[in-house]
Amino acid sequence: MKNYRIGIFGLGTVASGLIKILKKEKINYQNRFNVNFELSQVVVHDLQKKRAPEFDGLNISDDPAKIIEDPAIDIVIELIGGKTVAKNIIEESLQTGKHVITANKDLIASEGRKLSRLAKEKHVGLFYEAAVAGGIPILRSLSNSLASDEIEQINGIVNGTSNFILSQMRQNKISYAAALKTAQEKGFAEADPSNDVDGIDAAYKLQILADFTFGKQINQRDIQMGGIRTITQADLQDVTDLGYEIKLLASATVISNKLELSVAPTLVPKGHPLASVQNENNAVFVNGRYSGGLMFYGPGAGEFPTANSVAADLIELTKKIDQPESFNTNFSSDLTLAKPKDRI
Ligand code: HSE
Repeated sequence: MKNYRIGIFGLGTVASGLIKILKKEKINYQNRFNVNFELSQVVVHDLQKKRAPEFDGLNISDDPAKIIEDPAIDIVIELIGGKTVAKNIIEESLQTGKHVITANKDLIASEGRKLSRLAKEKHVGLFYEAAVAGGIPILRSLSNSLASDEIEQINGIVNGTSNFILSQMRQNKISYAAALKTAQEKGFAEADPSNDVDGIDAAYKLQILADFTFGKQINQRDIQMGGIRTITQADLQDVTDLGYEIKLLASATVISNKLELSVAPTLVPKGHPLASVQNENNAVFVNGRYSGGLMFYGPGAGEFPTANSVAADLIELTKKIDQPESFNTNFSSDLTLAKPKDRI
């Protein structure tokens, strides 16, 4: 049995879910995959914060060196989010030859290629399934099962908060402001929900999806952006009468060797599977030249769904650990990026 020592940064919702999964599934993973995951160290920002009794007995510190400078730790899991501290943690971990798993969409959207190059140089893995659409295994599907295909288009509902708001407005005939308030009360939307409702969070996820699928580093300025702030109850009613739903779609489409990217409220015909995605759920619809139209649907956030994607990365990492060349396979394509300003 191979033993792997793990260091986790953060002890928020996803990290808590991961720790519970690793504890509960320990024997299962030993039996099925012949691996033992040993949680050596957790590093948090605020050591004084009260923790649930189930975390008693964990080694918890506020000193990042306890993970980064411990040569016995093989795998670092970054679950603190944000860009600055998380970037340092990931870079330093990769530099010291540790494998890294993260759920950090903001960071991977902008620095994913650079960090993957560093991981490749150091012959270690960098995995981030949980960064896009929480519990939906979309990156692994694109890089494994769909790697044989030529993907023509991806359309995703990848921001649960905005989908929740639109669904509530439509189902309960309430205003945007009232639906936003419910989303905040349920803990979906941030106190400042701009990233969710202005399409920025969806754009991060589109950047990662499009890079994975089409082999291009995407910047936010390559994406035609729009949000849902100005959508009214009347708009939703009008389009419903015409046989459509309004969804905030993150889309990547190849047209004549050009890749067009947008995040925008979009009319989706009622018969399309994406039209039926309600509330905080996510879905990604992939059109492949050979596979046809495939819908990936499920929870885009939440303790266990997102933590399961991190646990799945752990298992994938250990399966590939003896072939480091198979870890970070960022490819490059000859597609050109259509600039938003060149479009209508
Ligand atoms: N704010 C995000 C959403 C959380 O609403 O989808 C998951 O990335």
